[in-house]
Amino acid sequence: MRFHLGVGLTALVGLTSAVSVSKREAGQGTEELVFKHITSPVSHTANVDACNGYSMSDVSTSDHGLTATLQLIGEPCNAYGNDIETLTLKVGYETEDRLHVTIADTEGKQYQVPEDVVQRPKHSRVEKGKAKLRFEFQEQPFSFRVLRVEDEEVLFDTQDSKLIFEDQYLHLATKIPEDANLYGLGQHNDAFKLATNNYTRTLWNRDAFGIPPGSNVYGSHPIYQEHRRSSSSGNYLTHGVALLNSHGMKVDVDDGKLSYNVLGGVLDLYFFAGPKPSRITEQLHEVVGLPVTPPYWGLGLHQCRYGSGDWIEIAQTIANYSEAGIPLETQWTDIDYMDRRAIFSTSPSLYPRQLLKQVIDVLHHNNQHYVVMVDPATAVRDYGAYDRGNDLDVFLKRHDGSGAVHQNVVWPGRAAYPDWFHPNTSQWWVDEFKTFFNKDTGVDIDALWIDMNEPAGFLPYVEANPDRIAQEQDAPPRPPTTRASPYEVPGFPATSPKTKRAGGWAFVNEKLLNGDGSINHDGVSSNLSDFTARTDLTHYGGIREYAVHNLYGLMMSKASREAMLARRPNKKALILTRSTFLGSGRYTSHWHGDNLSTWDHYRWAIRLMLGYSIYGMPMNGGDICGFGGNTTETLCARWAMAAILHPFYRNHNNIDGRPQEFYRWNLTTQAAKRAMDIRYRLLDAYYTAFHHAQTKGTPVVQPLFWNFGQDVETFGVETQYMAMDKILVSPVTDENSTSVHMYLPKDTQWYKFDSWTPVQGQGWTDIENVDYDEVPMHLIGGSILPLRNESAMTTKDVRQKDFVIIVAPDDEGQAKGDLYIDDGESEEVGEQFTYIEMHFNGHHLVVQDDGHYDAAYPVKVDRILFLNQTKQRQVIGTDGAETNYDEESKVLTVTLQSELRPGTRIELQ
Ligand SMILES: *[C@@H]1O[C@H](CO)[C@@H](O)[C@H](O)[C@H]1NC(C)=O
Ligand SMILES: *[C@@H]1O[C@H](CO)[C@@H](O)[C@H](O)[C@H]1NC(C)=O
Ligand SMILES: *[C@@H]1O[C@H](CO)[C@@H](O)[C@H](O)[C@H]1NC(C)=O
Ligand SMILES: *[C@@H]1O[C@H](CO)[C@@H](O)[C@H](O)[C@H]1NC(C)=O
Ligand SMILES: *[C@@H]1O[C@H](CO)[C@@H](O)[C@H](O)[C@H]1NC(C)=O
Ligand SMILES: *[C@@H]1O[C@H](CO)[C@@H](O)[C@H](O)[C@H]1NC(C)=O
Ligand SMILES: *[C@@H]1O[C@H](CO)[C@@H](O)[C@H](O)[C@H]1NC(C)=O
Ligand SMILES: *[C@@H]1O[C@H](CO)[C@@H](O)[C@H](O)[C@H]1NC(C)=O
Repeated sequence: MRFHLGVGLTALVGLTSAVSVSKREAGQGTEELVFKHITSPVSHTANVDACNGYSMSDVSTSDHGLTATLQLIGEPCNAYGNDIETLTLKVGYETEDRLHVTIADTEGKQYQVPEDVVQRPKHSRVEKGKAKLRFEFQEQPFSFRVLRVEDEEVLFDTQDSKLIFEDQYLHLATKIPEDANLYGLGQHNDAFKLATNNYTRTLWNRDAFGIPPGSNVYGSHPIYQEHRRSSSSGNYLTHGVALLNSHGMKVDVDDGKLSYNVLGGVLDLYFFAGPKPSRITEQLHEVVGLPVTPPYWGLGLHQCRYGSGDWIEIAQTIANYSEAGIPLETQWTDIDYMDRRAIFSTSPSLYPRQLLKQVIDVLHHNNQHYVVMVDPATAVRDYGAYDRGNDLDVFLKRHDGSGAVHQNVVWPGRAAYPDWFHPNTSQWWVDEFKTFFNKDTGVDIDALWIDMNEPAGFLPYVEANPDRIAQEQDAPPRPPTTRASPYEVPGFPATSPKTKRAGGWAFVNEKLLNGDGSINHDGVSSNLSDFTARTDLTHYGGIREYAVHNLYGLMMSKASREAMLARRPNKKALILTRSTFLGSGRYTSHWHGDNLSTWDHYRWAIRLMLGYSIYGMPMNGGDICGFGGNTTETLCARWAMAAILHPFYRNHNNIDGRPQEFYRWNLTTQAAKRAMDIRYRLLDAYYTAFHHAQTKGTPVVQPLFWNFGQDVETFGVETQYMAMDKILVSPVTDENSTSVHMYLPKDTQWYKFDSWTPVQGQGWTDIENVDYDEVPMHLIGGSILPLRNESAMTTKDVRQKDFVIIVAPDDEGQAKGDLYIDDGESEEVGEQFTYIEMHFNGHHLVVQDDGHYDAAYPVKVDRILFLNQTKQRQVIGTDGAETNYDEESKVLTVTLQSELRPGTRIELQ
């Protein structure tokens, strides 16, 4: 949700320089661990050319890797921090596909992302000789390369630039091809295929209304994938590189070079061999843990509006959806329900507890669901949640060592930030959830929405007067933001001004506060502490916010998952978070943040979504019809269709925009009905894809090139997407247009969705006359797709329908597919599930013997459609099967009305 701000950047004032580093009594003195080695401020030169790099010694190799010492060469250059003299290099061949390289200060004082925040595999190793990647080094000055063994391609090479390792600055650069096909380094709203010249990606989580391109936004995922043509084989293969470091950073890509500039910590690098892009995501999950996946109902239609005045409006929305015949699965409420915007409270006048409960009971009775938002910032007010938190000492303290709680200004006015590193915080959070969201006496939510967890704050600079800011943001009507962001102007072009600053990073304490802007925060050089928790706050254990700012949303996610599982043990916890970091997928799902109701944002929703297939958060999506600004009937109708297979499907808009529930206009009503008709019939196929995500980390949506890696035309496609590696969705991209210019890869058999007529891929193709309740969709040949034969008003009812199995042969007449069904909501299902794999060889459709069939989850099939058949055929040996051939569509329909079980065989003659 957007924040409002009454102060322009011009009002910024200077800061007092000396910020004392105080030792927290409860902190067991571990603060020393992180900052002891930062002694008195020294002047920094900003002259990286004066840095000499390191020399390598004490190399000790083993079958599984090596260790060595790196010693600073010559005098320290102290470019942006204090050079660290002695480093330890560790190289581990962890799996055949994964190489782990760490360069850390030998004394171990630099901050590293802890294992209990982002898990890493322990004792994972493989013999060097079996690994697909190889590490090579040069001793003086130290540099290294990573090669792919198969073709001796050098994937990472630091030889052309010197390693810089300072307490508050790390620099490492690799050569990349000048025209590299580079993806990732999110969250961002830039081109999906990244620019390779004069391009900067800043990672510093922030509340970024309008998700502006060219800027850092809500999440940090320092992983990239590079899709490169092998110089020996000529084939395109993909590899991946992740830097596990939570500090603010800036990744520059320019002139055949990719360089990391990090504000501290260590270089903890993972190299992934791929060679397919989706494998790299699976390989990332092997490191950071498998992703959570949604309950079946979570794939249904979600509706939210910030500014739903009271419970009556919520009830009306639910009623109006029903009246319009549009399936509404889940109703959401933004901060509107709270008592003066304090978390764990309800407004006694607008959302009285008993009446809200009645609304929720009705939803539950009708198999629908309810979700509300919770922010981390806790109102500093005389009320239970704050008092109990205070008693447990869970809030971040002031920077000045006074021990008082740090106060920022967020929605409720003055507010405190929970310190997720504190040992009491998760229990406090779990307990508040148990009470406030109690199923009998509280607000019985089915899923959770966590927001403002960058963490966002409204203080535009650290010394701003909280009372003044609170008053400004509270005064009704809330003023529009005066922070001149052009992205609030609908249709503003896709670039933001960037200022490259040459400036140095002055003194330690000031740097802690400001980071000196050298990471290009906010597309300009805003201070790191602006609009967030100031970076010189100290977390429990002496950890500086400076080092862990980017982890705040992830840690809140972790505690929130614990809290939701404590309420409903073993139920899939659907939690949507705004701020994310590498590994967030293990705890949460994600919506993209505050997008805008513009045609640009409509198109960008796809590239934002595809990014999360790289970052490992399969359940994600952007606000449909756009959040900020006013949508239009046609934009909203197109968006309803374009997002048809976005994993998370929610219409959401802002308080100052015109209401945009799908029932508001005729076109959107028709479009949403049509979209849900198709989507709901596909839910089991989607749920099956999520089953693979949950068990192997396989992404559920893909950019086109992930399936056509040798076709260069596909590399930059970002207004089409594939779902489940099977269905290509190609929305209309422009206002008032009824045609689509789309890419349908050549030499591939495709089928038009729902008419099932065969189409040969011809490359770039134009499709005309696309109505507002249509979106071109193509099923790829070679797949077997299970569909429910009808849609319904709730996902629960969809599950009662019989299946239709679509058999779509490739150009050799073959096809395969699978289907997974369980109760749709349990985390652990034991043996209570059905899983079948199906193969078609042109003559018979066989369900593999080795599946798993639970009669509680039957695969009752109404009919099977064999596509691209040239003639009428009969089924032999299956009682009661009837066949019908349609010459025009070339579809052979076999009406079956029986179950597909492991071992079932259907033979065509
Ligand atoms: C950042 O804060 C410093 C004071 O510490 C101030 O001098 C500087 O102007 C600020 N920079 C920006 C871009 O706001
Ligand atoms: C629901 O529909 C009724 C009848 O058209 C209308 O009066 C009311 O404003 C609508 N409310 C909402 C929240 O859509
Ligand atoms: C946790 O809360 C208890 C009060 O229940 C308090 O005594 C204790 O000091 C807190 N722990 C820490 C580390 O602050
Ligand atoms: C690099 O990008 C910046 C900001 O977008 C721009 O001002 C500058 O002119 C560009 N430099 C070159 C050499 O293209
Ligand atoms: C949306 O349109 C209404 C008029 O219909 C206008 O009052 C409002 O300011 C607009 N909102 C935005 C965010 O542009
Ligand atoms: C919208 O649909 C309703 C009901 O079908 C119809 O009466 C009305 O004329 C339509 N409005 C427009 C503008 O098409
Ligand atoms: C689309 O059509 C509407 C209505 O005719 C018009 O107001 C608008 O300017 C058109 N937009 C574009 C981009 O052509
Ligand atoms: C499927 O149909 C296409 C026409 O689109 C045809 O060229 C192709 O040979 C057919 N494939 C098979 C296996 O029948």
